[in-house]
Amino acid sequence: MKISHQPPARLFTSDNAAGVHPDVMAAVVRANESHALAYGLDKYTMQAKDAFSKLFDADVRTEFVFGGTGANILALACVLKPAEAVVCTAWSHIAVDETGAPERILGAKLIDLPSLDGKLRPEDLHSVAHLRGHVHHAQPAVVSITQSTELGTVYSPDEVRAICETAHELEMLVHMDGARLSNAAAVYGATPEALRSFTIDAGVDILSFGGMKAGIMFGEAVVFLKPKLGDRAEYIRKQITQLNSKMRFVSAQYVELFRDGLFFQLGAQANAMALALYERTKHHKSLGLVAPPQVNSLYPTISQPARTALQDWSFFWDWDVAAQQVRWMTAWDTTLEDIEAFGLGVDEVLNSN
Ligand SMILES: Cc1ncc(COP(=O)(O)O)c(C=O)c1O
Repeated sequence: MKISHQPPARLFTSDNAAGVHPDVMAAVVRANESHALAYGLDKYTMQAKDAFSKLFDADVRTEFVFGGTGANILALACVLKPAEAVVCTAWSHIAVDETGAPERILGAKLIDLPSLDGKLRPEDLHSVAHLRGHVHHAQPAVVSITQSTELGTVYSPDEVRAICETAHELEMLVHMDGARLSNAAAVYGATPEALRSFTIDAGVDILSFGGMKAGIMFGEAVVFLKPKLGDRAEYIRKQITQLNSKMRFVSAQYVELFRDGLFFQLGAQANAMALALYERTKHHKSLGLVAPPQVNSLYPTISQPARTALQDWSFFWDWDVAAQQVRWMTAWDTTLEDIEAFGLGVDEVLNSN
């Protein structure tokens, strides 16, 4: 079937499908002045590193890389020793969406545990503790959790604290994949305090800090909340091909993102639009949208031929094909007009079924 309405101006495919916030773009253009020292020795990189320390209200160590996979690999590479393993969920980006980069580049085993909601819990760590001290097993050394998770759920500060306490008792470190930290922070008030509550204050050791889903063009950061852990980061970053010679263009974006709280506003906007999409479409019981989204994604079920009709009209990804589940994701620039336009298409397809 063909949908008669105009598709929305923006896609519900991914927050990565969104463009660059105009203020960030302007900051990149401003940074394009004359010459600057390469490889991070420029003033923008100094300012951006300071901005991260201010954000966390601590003397953290921040290093920039090209993308999110690079951030995860650098973070883990800095702390893993040979024969060590990373504990994560079977949904985690490092286990599912990095083309085996951790296995190839880190040479480490990923112990990817099943999880219904994309979260790990202290008991999961206890379940692998028996591997420690046995010569035949890779040694669990780092726990990697994702905030917000790959399933659109969010760890509370207490949940992160409990993971960190257990990990540290078991002599493991905690890495957080924060590709969507701005969305998670919005759940707790969209402030630096909110961000700190489930990161540095909760005991996280190393953070992959995402900006690309929060309005920037390219470049993510690894924040060593325990700065000593990043002692070898600069060398390892170069070795794993993540040292950007024109680093000023990444850094200038973060300076802008943090200047007036844009980072937090954009995460909150994406979340608000996911809630609006939920409100607009939940009356279709077949979608199975039983609870409001916590952050910026919905996971409805849509059977054929409705699914293909909608995807041909305004593309979004399948999620769990066997369950006929798809993902609708909002971004920092999603508008209420997009929601209404998309809602009309959903109505047309589902009402005709
Ligand atoms: C949970 C998570 N981690 C990390 C990333 C970063 O991946 P990339 O290497 O594509 O920037 C993503 C991007 O979708 C993600 O969803």
